[in-house]
Amino acid sequence: MSFRTTATSVDYVEDVSPGSGALPPRAWYASSDAQSLSLNGGWSFRLSPTADAEDDSFAAEGYDAGGWAEVSVPGHWVLQGDGAFGSPIYTNHLYPFPVDPPRVPTENPTGDHLRYFDLPEGWPADGGAVVRFDGVESCARVWLNGTEIGEFKGSRLPHEFTVGHLLKPTDNVLAVRVHQWSAGSYLEDQDQWWLPGIFRDVTLLHRPVGSAVDFFVHASYDHVGSLGTLRVDSDVDGRVLVPALDIDVATGEPVTVAVVPWTAETPKLYDGELVTAGERVPLRIGFRTVALEDGLLKVNGKAILFKGVNRHEWHPVKGRALDVETMREDVLLMKRHNINAVRTSHYPPHPAFLDLCDEYGLWVIDECDLETHGFTEQNWRDNPVDDDRWTPALLDRAARMVERDKNHPSVVIWSLGNEAGTGRGLTAMAEWIHGRDSSRLVHYEGDWNCRDTDIYSRMYAEHAEVERIGQGLDGGTHKRRALPFIQCEYGHAMGNGPGGLADYQRVFEAYERLQGGFIWEWIDHGVTHPKLGFAYGGDFGEELHDGNFVCDGLIFPDRTPSPGLLEFKKVIEPVRIEGDGAGGTVRVRNAFDFADLSSLSFEWSYQVDGKTVEHGPLPVPALAPGESAEVKLPQPPSGGPGGEALWTVRALLAEDTAWGKKDHQVAWAQLPVTERPLPTVVPGDGPTASEKLIYLGPASFDVRTGALKTIGGVDVTGLRLDVWRAPTDNDDGASWQDDTRYGLLWRKYGFHRMQHRLDGVELGEDALTVRTRVAPAAWEIGLRTTYRWTSDGTRLKLTVSVDPEGDWTIPLPRLGIRFGLSSADAVKWYGGGPGEGYPDTKSASMLGRWHSTVDELQTPYVRPQENGARPDVRWAELGGLRVDGDPEFWFTARRWTTEQLDAAEHLTDLRPGDTVWVNLDHGQMGIGSQSCGPGALPQYHLLAEPTEFSFVFSTTE
Ligand code: GAL
Repeated sequence: MSFRTTATSVDYVEDVSPGSGALPPRAWYASSDAQSLSLNGGWSFRLSPTADAEDDSFAAEGYDAGGWAEVSVPGHWVLQGDGAFGSPIYTNHLYPFPVDPPRVPTENPTGDHLRYFDLPEGWPADGGAVVRFDGVESCARVWLNGTEIGEFKGSRLPHEFTVGHLLKPTDNVLAVRVHQWSAGSYLEDQDQWWLPGIFRDVTLLHRPVGSAVDFFVHASYDHVGSLGTLRVDSDVDGRVLVPALDIDVATGEPVTVAVVPWTAETPKLYDGELVTAGERVPLRIGFRTVALEDGLLKVNGKAILFKGVNRHEWHPVKGRALDVETMREDVLLMKRHNINAVRTSHYPPHPAFLDLCDEYGLWVIDECDLETHGFTEQNWRDNPVDDDRWTPALLDRAARMVERDKNHPSVVIWSLGNEAGTGRGLTAMAEWIHGRDSSRLVHYEGDWNCRDTDIYSRMYAEHAEVERIGQGLDGGTHKRRALPFIQCEYGHAMGNGPGGLADYQRVFEAYERLQGGFIWEWIDHGVTHPKLGFAYGGDFGEELHDGNFVCDGLIFPDRTPSPGLLEFKKVIEPVRIEGDGAGGTVRVRNAFDFADLSSLSFEWSYQVDGKTVEHGPLPVPALAPGESAEVKLPQPPSGGPGGEALWTVRALLAEDTAWGKKDHQVAWAQLPVTERPLPTVVPGDGPTASEKLIYLGPASFDVRTGALKTIGGVDVTGLRLDVWRAPTDNDDGASWQDDTRYGLLWRKYGFHRMQHRLDGVELGEDALTVRTRVAPAAWEIGLRTTYRWTSDGTRLKLTVSVDPEGDWTIPLPRLGIRFGLSSADAVKWYGGGPGEGYPDTKSASMLGRWHSTVDELQTPYVRPQENGARPDVRWAELGGLRVDGDPEFWFTARRWTTEQLDAAEHLTDLRPGDTVWVNLDHGQMGIGSQSCGPGALPQYHLLAEPTEFSFVFSTTE
């Protein structure tokens, strides 16, 4: 007996097959002469709660959709209509529906879409036409003028249907029914928002008689002879023209000529054309050869080093419906930050993105739209990639990626997908890809034995393990031992961080087998929200969600670079500048793989106490890749003031390029010449007391507690030792991690609720001494803390001595003092800047004189957390006070307390108070990458040990 009562069959939704009716996959190209019509724009839209709530009569000609709403295509309906069309759901790997493949819930939001169109004037009557969908999540059924033409799954892959026989000159109606959930959803469990809709272009393409259909550009490069060989295999015979190379050959015929090769650093493209009887197709040809040779991934005969990022498609308003300008912005930002590679995590991107990678030069790992991560919850039982019934769907996905993208020189590696366990389906995909395209390598991280792959790939491996792999001491299968290694994900950029990038880069550069990696990830997937600023998981009332784990990018949702991106840029800079400033020479090394240094100009400047005394050009030879040279610096400027002196050497773009302006800074270094003289205060008169106050130099203190009250005319509140910071995502670590999640341990041990016991206030001959013990309730650990104040009459010196007591087993978050100022805004400092930096994230911090405001010192992490510390600060001025450090310190100032920062969940929770809270830290704990990977390396741990540090206060008026 059947319970199904509606007229519409929805069996295809839960069918494991990829669909029916679509044309075979082929290269994605825009013809120069065949017509096309974009069907993007406003579409009539109706949302139903289930797949079969409405019958299919809407697809019929003449249907009256007058009462329907409208959505924009490309777009996701859940991000339109102000919540009227449901809302996004964020889960990392948990399926937001019961796992019972291939079944999906009865509640299956289903969007019916209608688009009316006329053919443009002059649309040819001969030939055929196809309608192409570049991306629809997750399953669609399509009708044109009332005739059903097919259904498909494979959200981020193109699907085309023959429609010429159905077209009319006017009043065509394209009907598309889109289901949020389908069998395909089981294959698309990537860590991102679930966002149904027609989110990429829909295009009608005229297909003239004799059009090219599909073609494969083979353009290899023989680096020994500097020769390129071109052969274009085409379904339909024709000619291949490349005027700049004098090439005019038949399709299928190879031709070898002298060429300039394509690399990500030197992206030379030759314009060509494929001419068939029916159309002309523009080609952009890049000659390069990718090979696995001597256990290394080589391009044009050279091993390359990936300095890459994982890029999801993201826009805070439009979700994964990106326009070309946004894609270009991504590429330009990458190029300007020294990034040379992209893994298209975890699906093939909009094809226009790959055009940009060809044009501007980025190595690409093109990844298939496949992830079944949620099956890990059941030990991978019933995993579709190990179940033959699903293999046709997997092969369909592999073919749609490879056929669409095969003509891009930027694509050097095909990736089978992400986090899908292991199984026969993956092997079948790899075999198919190897058979179809032997000119690229195959990647998949999930199989550490490398059974199907050409490269050993891992994610979030610790530094020490990466080093062992580099040394070949990691064991593994016989096959794996002969393969190069990459980290397809590392440096988890969630919130403040990632830390430890410089340490990874050192290891990558030390061992040939290590060919670099890809930071996780490029952009925070925050959703613009009227009340919350940027929303993350849980903000839409999802039943299951993974919070702000979706905000883990190097750029904020609005594409502002985060400190993590600036750090990465510095760590991977393609020119290394080193040396001993006092020695008068600097060693410059070209760390590019292919480009010489002729595109760069160098300059030197000489700073004393952060002020530039003189600067000038530095002639550096156009070193070949890998070469280095000792370059002489000029005579240090004479007669300048004594103080801390250093050289700053910069490498800049010598001319405008496609991606950067002349003088754009590519690399830099600072070379110390003389050390900074430490501030001294010779104690003068000692403290005196009145009934209420103690006086010492410019300062007054509470007579009972010894608490500082004023310095000159400046009121100071609550000055005391501080060890607490609002835990970062990396402090808190990921839920599956072990007992080194310090953010949790700090709370357990009460570092956020330290009590300050007063043990004594002593008025000495030349000093006021306040003795305390700082310790959390319930524990025996504590910090004996002594504040010793002296003054020379105008300046006030505080020396803090800290002696740990008890059994300290974990590092401290921070160690320093904090205090409140009643009015402060403009900030000046001499130290690291201009942005924040922590012990393992301060490579990009440049020593100089900086100025800012309290508000601008804040780094707007989507989920508020510790941020904004300026490292290596010699002195800072704020609110009428100047502080000189002995030694240098970390400087932080904000309009809320650490406790308020800690309690906030969104930036909009942070409300400025009347007091500016200042932290001067002697130490900060490293940041690490434990929100997904390893924590801070031991050398960046802030251990509780006997410590002494001083600050000298004076007023600036
Ligand atoms: C990886 C995964 C990514 C992302 C990341 C954590 O395991 O491949 O998609 O989830 O972890 O942010």
